[in-house]
Amino acid sequence: MKVGIIVHSLTGHTLSVANLLEDKLTADGHQVVLESLVSEPEQPSDISKVNLQNIPDVSGYDAVFFGAPVWAFSPSSVMRAYLQQIPSLAEKRAGCFVTQAFPFAWMGGNSSIRIMKELCEDKGAEVLHTGIINWGRKKRDATIADVTELLSSF
Ligand SMILES: Cc1cc2nc3c(=O)[nH]c(=O)nc-3n(C[C@H](O)[C@H](O)[C@H](O)COP(=O)(O)O)c2cc1C
Repeated sequence: MKVGIIVHSLTGHTLSVANLLEDKLTADGHQVVLESLVSEPEQPSDISKVNLQNIPDVSGYDAVFFGAPVWAFSPSSVMRAYLQQIPSLAEKRAGCFVTQAFPFAWMGGNSSIRIMKELCEDKGAEVLHTGIINWGRKKRDATIADVTELLSSF
């Protein structure tokens, strides 16, 4: 299958998860393209200040994964701006994942996934799996392995 991974990552955490997901999907035999979102400024204070420097086209993928850091209990404004402008995700399978600094999913991870899932579903995607990685937790590497395994089982 043709698979896209669209990631936003300011300090590299979410990108490192996306890279592992890319490795797993490639090992599973998929054709995978990973693209990072870039905004100017890098850390816009709100969605109205996001100026996307690239707008990856997802129309050619059978499945698309979206990864973002949690910013103030939401997916990063950069990812939200990107998802809002996508014309359609109809007929596509999707997966969403976030990384966050706080140790518990209720500290921004759950709300961020809910928002990303809704944005994808509003565009017609079927969101099969989601994942949250709490960056500061001891079991982080095991969680990343579980999340990449789950997401790639679409
Ligand atoms: C502006 C801003 C807001 C943040 N808000 C939250 C938050 O609400 N909850 C949380 O757990 N982490 C929060 N964080 C921490 C990031 O989500 C966390 O460090 C993430 O793993 C960074 O991912 P990245 O390296 O891919 O950019 C925030 C970080 C920034 C820069």
